[in-house]
Amino acid sequence: MSTCEHEGVERVLFTQEELARRVTEMGAQITADYAGKDLLVVSVLRGAAIFMADLVRAIELPLEMDFMAVSSYGAGTTSSGVVRILKDVTSSIEGRHVLIAEDVLDSGLTLRALVDELASRGPASLAVAALLRKDVPNQAEIACRYVGFECPDEFVVGYGLDYAERYRNLPFIGVLRQDMTE
Ligand code: PRP
Repeated sequence: MSTCEHEGVERVLFTQEELARRVTEMGAQITADYAGKDLLVVSVLRGAAIFMADLVRAIELPLEMDFMAVSSYGAGTTSSGVVRILKDVTSSIEGRHVLIAEDVLDSGLTLRALVDELASRGPASLAVAALLRKDVPNQAEIACRYVGFECPDEFVVGYGLDYAERYRNLPFIGVLRQDMTE
């Protein structure tokens, strides 16, 4: 991590230690809830990759990992709610206990589309673990069984979250300096 990456961050919201502690707690809760079940954890590339990597190591159960990649049609930073699957899961969903691991629930449109899509494939159960739930108006109603942190409606980067593909490798989550986007 270079110094200039830090310079783009206005303030730290969640430190490396806070993230580690909370993800460990989420993993323990998931371990308790899914004991004896056939668990498939699905993560959405690319932002959730780092959360996924830490979360699965905090789950003390046999499980399978799979990945999806989606793109949302929409101009600039606003999502249209139409999500196209660029890469689908490799595993069959039917009859499995599926847990979607997402980095951030923002407008909720990505998760809405993913939940609807995976639910249509006949899983035994389907739940969502979101590391961050942003406090935004008109968020789609998503039942998140596990939420890491409530997050202010600001442009956050780090721990998988990017701005123009940068900052994903920061070990903490922080607010991007506004002048970085101007
Ligand atoms: C981000 C994030 C979620 C989605 C959340 O992905 O990883 O998937 O946006 O936003 P929403 O709730 O408004 O739908 P992005 O499209 O930026 O791609 P990335 O994961 O590759 O960073």
